Amino acid sequence: MSTVNIHDDVVPDESPNIELYTRNGFTGPAATIIRAQYTPPYSRVQGAYVPYRFDMNGLSSSAFADPEAPPVAIMEGEGVSVELAIRTQGSAAAFRNVFGDELHYVMEGEGRLDTDFGYLEVRPGDFVLLPRAVTYRWAAVTRALREMIVVTASELSVDPRNAPGVLNVDRDVDVPTPDPTSDRGPGEYVVIVRHGSAFTRYFYDYDPMPVLAAAGAPIVRRYNIADVHSLSVDSGHLMPTRIINDATTRTLVFDLSSRRSDRPPVHHNADYDEVIFYVAGPGHYGAVDRPGTITWTPKGIIHQGPEENVPEGYKAWLLETRASLALTPAGRDLGRLMETGRFDIHPSQSATV
Ligand SMILES: [Fe+2]
Repeated sequence: MSTVNIHDDVVPDESPNIELYTRNGFTGPAATIIRAQYTPPYSRVQGAYVPYRFDMNGLSSSAFADPEAPPVAIMEGEGVSVELAIRTQGSAAAFRNVFGDELHYVMEGEGRLDTDFGYLEVRPGDFVLLPRAVTYRWAAVTRALREMIVVTASELSVDPRNAPGVLNVDRDVDVPTPDPTSDRGPGEYVVIVRHGSAFTRYFYDYDPMPVLAAAGAPIVRRYNIADVHSLSVDSGHLMPTRIINDATTRTLVFDLSSRRSDRPPVHHNADYDEVIFYVAGPGHYGAVDRPGTITWTPKGIIHQGPEENVPEGYKAWLLETRASLALTPAGRDLGRLMETGRFDIHPSQSATV
């Protein structure tokens, strides 16, 4: 990874610099500030409230040698966490998160996911929304799975703005299929109930997962990032498009893939932490060029972020949360200090953090 000389590389040509201050993410009052200076670059920092960048490819699979191992959180805040998991084999053990909705993004791999409502054959690029109290298990892994997982105490729903153009819910969002033949037969089975950061294990002498039929509202939902289409504009900056909604507005998920739009302005996001998941190229997202890279800008830290108008194309998505995230020990191991212009590793690696 090359580092940039921030002052040479990321100062826009235009002068003066226009900054945007916003409340409530993209929906609240907004105001502009005009300055001669370009304010994202900082020379060094002391303290723990700093932007970070993570490469999930650096996550060791040894933590997941046991298929019953829970995901590893890299950041967590009030009722929200960002977690990673590697699954190399199927398991008879199932999970049920009783305090949080889980949004799983399949970065790599293929497998069969059994749920209370039937099964899904998942593939790279799939988002699977597993609301709280739904039991699920990785019944089979045909190619090692790497997942990014957002866990939130508030209720998430697949509710794209500008549907069906951005995401055709009727055509491209599906639900699991019941499979009465999936009973694994006699034996001991475990359901690992997750309640916050604690786990309680329920044991059974029968397979509790098979489903004869399911009806009613779609609870578990799945769509693929290939079916999410970016909006474009010929001039001006277009706000990212919401895909996953939260009625409390606490935690939202947006499409942030390449599109025709001006580079975002220098930005003061007063109320939301921003976590961006760069999941596919070939185009680079500023200084981010490795799929599996996650950037985190804590709320209130001035940033610009890279150019999004990248003709080669890339896929990315954005988590915005009012929760104030903080690094976990695993996040600290995996993360690097980040500059907030092009989201490169910060040139000052001697910072005390
Ligand atoms: Fe931003």
